[in-house]
Amino acid sequence: MPDHILVANWKMNTSSREAELLAEVARRTAVHGVESVLCPPFVWLDRIRQIVEGSRVRVGAQNLHWEAKGAYTGEISGSQLRELCEYVIVGHSERRTLFGESDAIVAKKLHTAAAYGLIPILCVGESVEAREAGKTEEVIGRQVLNAVAYFGGERLLVAYEPIWAIGSGTPATPVQAQAAAGLILRCLETLPGNTDVSVLYGGSVSPSSLAGFLEQPDIDGALVGGASLDAEQYTEMVRIAATITT
Ligand code: 13P
Repeated sequence: MPDHILVANWKMNTSSREAELLAEVARRTAVHGVESVLCPPFVWLDRIRQIVEGSRVRVGAQNLHWEAKGAYTGEISGSQLRELCEYVIVGHSERRTLFGESDAIVAKKLHTAAAYGLIPILCVGESVEAREAGKTEEVIGRQVLNAVAYFGGERLLVAYEPIWAIGSGTPATPVQAQAAAGLILRCLETLPGNTDVSVLYGGSVSPSSLAGFLEQPDIDGALVGGASLDAEQYTEMVRIAATITT
């Protein structure tokens, strides 16, 4: 197990050249003790895989379909992804809110990812309305328990990504993130004891906020959007992740 995990979610950003440059930076900066995972758009997966091959950097996709193949125009299956990458993000809040992914769909995707040997990065997190209504725990608990309903994998990464923190420039506080991480771990006690579970925090993580999250007892890493697209900030975050020991 590495000390810390740093997952870069590029979302629908980067030209092919920008993606290549970022992957080269990731390859150069990868260090022992930090599990660096790049999640580029589908179209660059193969190119990024080639660039980081033989290094410590790993590659992940941002989504998958739950069927192995068939008439699902525009979709990509786990059986296809496993030829290109090792990880896959499942249930990101942008998929849930913009593309109508329900807890039931997320559960199918999580099951499928594991069935194809992919390591899922399950995203959960509450809206600002839910937090203000005192429903944070209820939302996170429901999302986690529903998602793992048929999960049979050996390894699971769960990212706590409060919707109100994503892209806002204002992350959750480390105390808020730790409370959610503790809850997530309690919810996952129902999984078989040999399941390797890690909890990440995501939502406006930057070099200035990363350490505060990694110092929390139940947080193993970060899922980073915007700041992972900036080579300097990314390099700095790898350096920070490598220096913090918990
Ligand atoms: P930002 O780091 O840009 O807030 O995005 C977080 C996120 O959604 C990562 O999956």
